[in-house]
Amino acid sequence: MCCLMKIKGVILAGGLGTRLHPLTKVTNKHLLPVYHKPMIFYPIETLVDAGIKDIMVVTGGNNAGDFLRLLGNGKAFGLRHLHYAYQEGEGGIAEALSLAEDFADEDPVCVVLGDNLIEDSIRPYVEAFRKQGRGAKILLKEVSDPQRFGVAELNGDRVVRIFEKPKSPPSPFAVTGFYMYDSRVFEIIRGLEPSQRGELEITDVNNRFIEWNEMTYDILKGWWTDAGTIESLHRAANLVSEKVSRPRTAQVGC
Ligand code: G1P
Repeated sequence: MCCLMKIKGVILAGGLGTRLHPLTKVTNKHLLPVYHKPMIFYPIETLVDAGIKDIMVVTGGNNAGDFLRLLGNGKAFGLRHLHYAYQEGEGGIAEALSLAEDFADEDPVCVVLGDNLIEDSIRPYVEAFRKQGRGAKILLKEVSDPQRFGVAELNGDRVVRIFEKPKSPPSPFAVTGFYMYDSRVFEIIRGLEPSQRGELEITDVNNRFIEWNEMTYDILKGWWTDAGTIESLHRAANLVSEKVSRPRTAQVGC
């Protein structure tokens, strides 16, 4: 029964992208190129590859209409339909996710931050979450600069707590922008208070599932990067260029 559990995809592609100024002065960060494709293509492909075909793109700010012109109904990705929502203002990742509540309609969601790129398929993790059946799952990656991210404190196979951009990280494991939640996520978001930066934080959502003892994690093997700063956007383009120029046989098993 749980293997038939339907999971919907939500891509968060709003924000003002201020860390990328002046590149984002006249367009949305997720429309910028990462090597040979617009950034937004990558999270859509990641979800489609994981077998998730019911997808909503949450965008905001200026140029939201450009997403429709670029992506249409998602035909280029083998989709029949794409859903869209518009985030007014800068309420944070968790607020953006709350706009997908009606779309989710009680189904679990796989949430992807629109500026996160990953080498491997997330399919095995999505399948593991399907088997898990409820609660939440996050994907971690060991990085050299954890201060830039949400960071997980681990105790064996348990996440003890997540700290958002800590000065003294409790581990080198960054929380990547791929999150799987059951439908209680929307109830959690309704109860959140804005953080010091005035946003509803996804880290607070994750910590609630941890408190409930309903959070699992996996550690990514291949590369992962965000693309929200000049340095990471450049790194993302390099990683993609290496991946696409690799002989196809070398990609088997990814
Ligand atoms: C966000 C999350 C952070 C996560 C990161 C992944 O940070 O708040 O926990 O590690 O995405 O890219 P932001 O990019 O909004 O600074």
